[in-house]
Amino acid sequence: QTEIIKANNDDQAVEKAAELLHKGELVAIPTETVYGLAADALNPEAVKRIFEAKGRPQDNPLIIHIGAQKDLEKLIAEKVSKRAQKLIDKYWPGPLTLIFKKSSLVPAETSAGLDTVAVRMPSHPVTIKLLQKSGLVLAAPSANTSGYPSPTRAEHVYADLKTKIPLILDGGSCEVGVESTVIDLSQKEAVVLRPGGISREELAEFLGEELKLNNNLEKSTQGVISPGMKYRHYAPQKNLYIFDPVKKDLLFKKAEQKKIALIISRQTELGQKEDQLKVIRAFDREKPAELARKLFALLRELDSDPEVEEIYIEELKEEGLGETLMNRIYKAAAAKDEAQPGGGDNS
Ligand code: TXA
Ligand code: MG
Repeated sequence: QTEIIKANNDDQAVEKAAELLHKGELVAIPTETVYGLAADALNPEAVKRIFEAKGRPQDNPLIIHIGAQKDLEKLIAEKVSKRAQKLIDKYWPGPLTLIFKKSSLVPAETSAGLDTVAVRMPSHPVTIKLLQKSGLVLAAPSANTSGYPSPTRAEHVYADLKTKIPLILDGGSCEVGVESTVIDLSQKEAVVLRPGGISREELAEFLGEELKLNNNLEKSTQGVISPGMKYRHYAPQKNLYIFDPVKKDLLFKKAEQKKIALIISRQTELGQKEDQLKVIRAFDREKPAELARKLFALLRELDSDPEVEEIYIEELKEEGLGETLMNRIYKAAAAKDEAQPGGGDNS
């Protein structure tokens, strides 16, 4: 049976979590980005349990979460570069993950056999307390079943992993709502491997250098009404489509046959036929951060709504956090029959 404990300011909850983790058990933890499914990162048996509980492909490495900067040294086999230190000073604790050459302390299970390790310091107070009290470093992917939308509330974790884990620490709704930005500084040119809670634009500006995106994204060439991505992740069970407001008449036509939910900005006007759809005005166009907070929860909610058969979401400009959101949306909208559980950022 899975226990959920409200963990705000509750030392006992944190102690219980620390005890379980020391025994090699799994605990779901709140972070500012999404909930994580945590295990002692240096215990290979514990880490194996993460992959089993999530149904995660073995070849996808985990991020190690640390509670203090001194924990970094033992995990890595290189000197922290000036560039990395600059990012750490500015963004830790926070939604930024850095890749380093790993030390021999990090088991192959955690890094999926790579000679590098991904590390971040999360900012949620409950998890910071847990890291400090337990003295552990924690491997934690998002606490969803592999392929599903990431969990931003304790109840999402419960929906996916109930009975599979002993404890969920409930730290409320995640503030950022999308995963950390993963950046690789090991080459001369820094590369973003996964756009996330801190936009690539912001990082490039802060570093004063160009920052490429390399996330193997293949954009749909089939137009807006068609899901056309190769890898389906972050995905609801129902079909998700990307909506271009210019083509709203096509959507109204579809709504004659199907019950459709539409997630759009407050600025998007649909005209009189709007009431043929379930319309959710979830964000301001200029402020994608609001959609970031809500996106995964909305997908889960609409997925379990019997009044909804298909979900549409407005296309965003791929600028700032819009780039991160479109990355998630493209993957979530990938055609089901093209789903490849082993591929891409299948996490
Ligand atoms: O915000 C987050 O990062 C959340 C919370 C729980 O911290 N965690 C998360 O973990 O999103 P996960 O496992 O769902 O995604 C980890 C991503 C994957 O895309 C994985 O391939 C990449 O980080 N990654 C991990 N280690 C890596 C490495 N050594 N080299 C390249 N990519 C790595
Ligand atoms: Mg994930």
